[in-house]
Amino acid sequence: MKVNLIVAGCKVLGKETKVYGIGNKGQLPWRLKNEMKFFAKMTTTTKDTSKKNAVIMGRKTWESIPEKFRPLKNRFNLILTRNATYDLKTDNTSDVAICSSLNVRFLFKILLSIDQ
Ligand SMILES: NC(=O)c1ccc[n+]([C@@H]2O[C@H](COP(=O)([O-])OP(=O)(O)OC[C@H]3O[C@@H](n4cnc5c(N)ncnc54)[C@H](OP(=O)(O)O)[C@@H]3O)[C@@H](O)[C@H]2O)c1
Repeated sequence: MKVNLIVAGCKVLGKETKVYGIGNKGQLPWRLKNEMKFFAKMTTTTKDTSKKNAVIMGRKTWESIPEKFRPLKNRFNLILTRNATYDLKTDNTSDVAICSSLNVRFLFKILLSIDQ
């Protein structure tokens, strides 16, 4: 299985050293319409249309997505939380799962299970 990871980041304002960030106060550091479009395109597009990409996010990011838009469609949504009984509050259980540890073996097990 081939795994490609996409990570976005920006230089933290006011920092002299190389400090990069992807978030600020639980939000995206930027609000760029084209960047959102690019994210949606890159994460929903697959060469093999029988396959699906996965988006991995923390529990707080999941909760920041309005309920009507989650799980993010046409992607497998993997939510990180240390709460094993966390209620995702969605009926769409086939496109979303919680992961209590970013354990590589567990992550690959989940990725392999959606790589069908
Ligand atoms: N994830 C993305 O795709 C993405 C993309 C762009 C920007 N961002 C930005 O990046 C910032 C951080 O987002 P994030 O998605 O990394 O996290 P987050 O939404 O801030 O969620 C943090 C939560 O994730 C859980 N968590 C963190 N590390 C864990 C671990 N090792 N094992 C199990 N659970 C863990 C914990 O949930 P519990 O408290 O429930 O245990 C923790 O409170 C935000 O500002 C967000 O807007 C994220």
